[in-house]
Amino acid sequence: AQVILADTLNRPLRDLRISVIDTCNFRCPYCMPESEYADYSFLRCEERLSYDEIERLARVFARLGVNKLRLTGGEPLLRKRLHELVSRLSAIDGIEDIALTTNAMLLAPQAEDLARAGLGRVTVSLDSVDPDVFRAMSGGRGDLDRVLAGIEAARAAGLAPIKLNVVVQRGINDDGVVALLERFRGTGTIVRFIEFMDVGTRNAWNREQVVSSAELRERIARHWPLRALDESYRGETAERYAFTDGAGEVGFISSVSQPFCGDCTRARLSTDGQLFTCLFASQGTDLRGPLRDGAGEDELLELVTRIWRGRSDRYSEVRAEVDGRRARKRIEMYQIGG
Ligand code: GTP
Ligand code: 5AD
Ligand code: SF4
Ligand code: SF4
Repeated sequence: AQVILADTLNRPLRDLRISVIDTCNFRCPYCMPESEYADYSFLRCEERLSYDEIERLARVFARLGVNKLRLTGGEPLLRKRLHELVSRLSAIDGIEDIALTTNAMLLAPQAEDLARAGLGRVTVSLDSVDPDVFRAMSGGRGDLDRVLAGIEAARAAGLAPIKLNVVVQRGINDDGVVALLERFRGTGTIVRFIEFMDVGTRNAWNREQVVSSAELRERIARHWPLRALDESYRGETAERYAFTDGAGEVGFISSVSQPFCGDCTRARLSTDGQLFTCLFASQGTDLRGPLRDGAGEDELLELVTRIWRGRSDRYSEVRAEVDGRRARKRIEMYQIGG
């Protein structure tokens, strides 16, 4: 039986984002800057939730109203046999949408297996179509042609609609926004521009590097007129716009200039099984401990219910009032996958 569950701001729980691995084959400066991660120790195998454990938790969340799952990392395709996890998750009652966030370097050879296992769609992180800028923004590790081949393979496997997440940083890749749209407009792939966010504590965020969605939209509209679209589901992160010439749509995710906490129905599970109720949380609640101590489904359900009922997070809306961000401990993006 499904429970109707809401937090202190009356937001239901709909969306669970599961980080399956904390390592990555990229070192994007806005997420995992090379200098900070040269001798960082990532989680050991036994510290990660197993596929069994993830499946058990996903069942609990589905009973609490979650109908949408997103697999993230780090880079999720580094986790062995990910399609096996997908096929277990897609068999859970109530799960209607399973998506994957990836940098697509390893996607081409896996796309078909993932689709067959029940993956619905993929979102590819791609910040530029200029090979040099792209390479720099991956920390010198990415190969643009391989990523483009990954996107093509996903399309061939029917993992649609494909979305592209583009983090925009002033002076780094903002002048490539039009070229990026030129490449993908009219292909059915949905480009979404993300304002550079102050997540974690190690990405040297500063406000001057944020390009507001309003500014970006204005620049884009000079090339192709845009028309606002309605949101496709309640609490959507992106504001959607259509190209008036019929060449598809483009999205803007404005967590800095226009926070969207009011409808935030997202919970996040870290690789080591901690539950986070906000991307900017300093602390999670351990679910792996109880799981490994033999807690049953009902007990876990009660625990998650208690956490969600007490939830009051709305960091992006109160960002300005939260001072001394450097001093505060905070979860890093690659630990919960954005
Ligand atoms: P769809 O289901 O395709 O709409 O995806 P989504 O937008 O829910 O998820 P996705 O991971 O693609 O989100 C894109 C980016 O938006 C993330 O990488 C984050 O940068 C940002 N984002 C997503 N969810 C949140 C959130 O809850 N809070 C904030 N501040 N940013 C978020
Ligand atoms: N600001 C905005 N988006 C970010 N991502 C990672 N770090 C940041 C940041 N500081 C995005 C990546 C990827 C997703 C997992 O999170 O582009 O698409
Ligand atoms: Fe890896 Fe994604 Fe972080 Fe880049 S943003 S370092 S691809 S986890
Ligand atoms: Fe949700 Fe926290 Fe993001 Fe606000 S800042 S939308 S509460 S995850």
